[in-house]
Amino acid sequence: MSELDANILIGEREIARRVDELATEISADYADKAPLVLLGVLKGAFIFLADLSRHLSIPRTVEFIAVSSYHSSSISTGAVRLVMDVRESIENKHVLIIEDIVDSGHTLNYLTGMLRTRNPASLRTCALLQKSGRAQVDVTVDYVGFNIANEWVVGYGLDYLEKDRTLPFIGAIDIRDKD
Ligand code: IMP
Ligand code: MG
Repeated sequence: MSELDANILIGEREIARRVDELATEISADYADKAPLVLLGVLKGAFIFLADLSRHLSIPRTVEFIAVSSYHSSSISTGAVRLVMDVRESIENKHVLIIEDIVDSGHTLNYLTGMLRTRNPASLRTCALLQKSGRAQVDVTVDYVGFNIANEWVVGYGLDYLEKDRTLPFIGAIDIRDKD
């Protein structure tokens, strides 16, 4: 898909405004808990994390973790695989997981379960997007950018089969056309 084909669901300015709001909220909530470790989930969260981190007004560090849950398709199997672990210890640190999107909740559930065993001082979750009514596991997303319908979305870090990650907006695609 090229930018010309994209059906814009959330435009650049709307994303920027919401990211700024989230940053303000997170900065206030963590004012007494800094430094905050922003733990980005690769690859999808890289652009969201880049923008969010630059709008925070509190001391923070950036870490990454990579998981794989959709193996070259759009169907969630529920199986999550750790592809790359965090480099630094998170013990006694305040950690905020930064995700691109929460769909079934399996990925975030896997991550929170695994990271909690490492005894962080606190562990919370932030996702730019959450698909409404799709949860298969009970997982709390503490900060949500936008709730969206059950459509496949690309851009602003999110992909379809590794395509369209760097679109500046979030677009919805009809993946039935793509298979
Ligand atoms: P969950 O484990 O079902 O909650 O899925 C979460 C992961 O699946 C996200 O971190 C994304 O990597 C991917 N994902 C789910 N829905 C979409 C989408 O609409 N576009 C791109 N990636 C998605
Ligand atoms: Mg992801």
